[in-house]
Amino acid sequence: MRTPIVAGNWKMNNTAAEARRLTYELLTDLQAVQGVERVLCPPFTCLQAVSELLHDTGIGLGAQNLHWEPKGAYTGEVAAAMVAEFCQYVIIGHSERRAYFGETDETVNKKVHAALNAGLTPIICVGETLEENQAGQTAEVVSRQVNAALHGLEAGAVSRLIIAYEPVWAIGTGLAATPEIANQVIADHVRGPIAAAFGDQAAQAVRVQYGGSVKPANARAFFSQPDIDGGLIGGASLKAADFIAIVRAATG
Ligand code: PGA
Repeated sequence: MRTPIVAGNWKMNNTAAEARRLTYELLTDLQAVQGVERVLCPPFTCLQAVSELLHDTGIGLGAQNLHWEPKGAYTGEVAAAMVAEFCQYVIIGHSERRAYFGETDETVNKKVHAALNAGLTPIICVGETLEENQAGQTAEVVSRQVNAALHGLEAGAVSRLIIAYEPVWAIGTGLAATPEIANQVIADHVRGPIAAAFGDQAAQAVRVQYGGSVKPANARAFFSQPDIDGGLIGGASLKAADFIAIVRAATG
């Protein structure tokens, strides 16, 4: 049995003071939920403050990005070891980074290696755009992104990863994919390529989240699908009551 994991991606929405406040609001109820791995991913500048609040709570902390080089003249970037001072997880290859900041399959792969080498658990985002979806390219795009992200890894490392299948057209739009279709894409085009490259055991062990307009009202329908192991939550993770309801929906 895979333990579901629900992560809140706060994106670029919080000052450290705001992040502290939201974490306070979440803490007691989130701590009370059993059987679900819970992770908060605030902006870099909030990591220290939030990590202090999460100490010894069983709730994980994640960053939203990192750079693959260990150090050097890379103004504005943050290395894996710097993230690992505060975090256990890191989101890599979010579609917003792919769309606005030049993230490619190749840089995603470099970041995955850097994260694993620093002892972080990557949450690797994959998903097709609306155009690709409508052109019938979902299978090709998602399996290409999965294969590229995992290039050069060993099966043991792949088993410990988190992958988030986020159809780009469903992020922040209110248009969630149907749970059945999301499950099918994950089974065929996320676990399928992993089984082919790393074996069935790795494909069954890796946890795969769904992301894209998950709300309290639809969360259970997604999380009860056999191949979906929780979610990566954007907008709804900024409202304490909604995020708690979504995390509870993953308890089955
Ligand atoms: P959303 O974002 O829940 O607001 O659609 C999901 C994400 O970007 O990870």
